[in-house]
Amino acid sequence: MAQVTLEHVGKVYPGDVRAVKDFNLTIEDGEFIVMVGPSGCGKSTTLRMVAGLEEISEGTIKIGGRIVNDVLPKDRNIAMVFQNYALYPDKTVYENMAFCLRMRKYQPEDDKQRKGPFAPLINWWRNRREKNAEIDRRVREAADILGIQDLLDRRPKALSGGQRQRVAVGRCIVRNPAVFLFDEPLSNLDAKMRVQMRTEISRLHNKLRTTMIYVTHDQTEAMTMGDRIVVMKDGVIQQVATPSELYDNPNNIFVAGFIGTPPMNFFDVEIQDDNGNLSIKSDAFTLKVPQEWTNAVAPHVGRRLTFGLRPEHVGSPSAEAQSHPQTIAADIEVIEPMGSETYLYMKVGDAGFIARVDPHRVCSVGDKIDLAVMMDKAHLFNPETTERII
Ligand SMILES: Nc1ncnc2c1ncn2[C@@H]1O[C@H](COP(=O)(O)OP(=O)(O)OP(=O)(O)O)[C@@H](O)[C@H]1O
Ligand SMILES: [Mg+2]
Repeated sequence: MAQVTLEHVGKVYPGDVRAVKDFNLTIEDGEFIVMVGPSGCGKSTTLRMVAGLEEISEGTIKIGGRIVNDVLPKDRNIAMVFQNYALYPDKTVYENMAFCLRMRKYQPEDDKQRKGPFAPLINWWRNRREKNAEIDRRVREAADILGIQDLLDRRPKALSGGQRQRVAVGRCIVRNPAVFLFDEPLSNLDAKMRVQMRTEISRLHNKLRTTMIYVTHDQTEAMTMGDRIVVMKDGVIQQVATPSELYDNPNNIFVAGFIGTPPMNFFDVEIQDDNGNLSIKSDAFTLKVPQEWTNAVAPHVGRRLTFGLRPEHVGSPSAEAQSHPQTIAADIEVIEPMGSETYLYMKVGDAGFIARVDPHRVCSVGDKIDLAVMMDKAHLFNPETTERII
């Protein structure tokens, strides 16, 4: 097991494509870290630099305290699972998992080596037997962990996508690496299988407690799997935080909009001061600035800001249950019943927004309704820097 450190790491591809910029992160020993961000933001490049599959243009990467910038991938003690797991089609599951161990040189214990006239032959035979026993032990142990004991004699074409995925992970487990790297390993699976494998990988991490770095563009995977999440955009880290910290206190508009489904609603507003009473004013609603916000908001009087409100913080049962809530009046355009809740797609002035309301709330398309707002959960952002003010 190992800590992984990236210091001022950057990657410039030919043609001056700056894929990763000044990446700084310490991943603790045994931590499950998820890197998430839209396509092209540099996730795979970062992971491949840790693996040694991509050269680093600037900075330092350490694994277990050792600088690995110039260490070959095979000597980094890492194992990587890709999106297309590329199993050997003509080998059984057992041989797919055993293969990398067979390729390795077996280190026999010196004191067990015989001396004498037939020693080389006897030692060769004994070492081979011990190596095979060790491989067998590791493959069966990995198969137990992943629940694929019954599949060991099958070939990949006789496996489902999820089972193949497990074999690909098994191939890594047998090597007992210091760090596991995953690059979108579940994106070839159907939705149901993805959810199942997601919990299996989390369970695997709980069991092995090996450092894991997991790349995905799916924010739900990131939120459900990571001890901490790294949100990236255009090769730059936007925020590193636990899932709840990221959700409750996003650093900027990008993180706020990227994490959470349906996404956070944003409104253009202006801060107004009416004789010392601060208010948040859009072209369609006015909300009083809560007392606790006054100091942070006061410097922005007269400026345009971005008001952020998650769908579950407007019109939801907990929002409506507040005593004397502030409200927004909006027109219902689309109603989506989800069973446990209902999504209302609404219009307030020119702005569209989504509310997650009680499924039993009686309303129809075209209605104008008042929705309670949870001001203690709302945010204000500076639209120029995109950073969060509240
Ligand atoms: N070999 C390469 N040569 C030049 N540019 C590259 C190369 N590989 C990647 N890039 C560019 O670097 C940027 C980051 O790519 P990367 O593959 O790391 O993104 P990603 O976050 O993994 O995206 P995705 O979610 O689509 O897999 C992109 O703009 C990509 O076009
Ligand atoms: Mg990628």
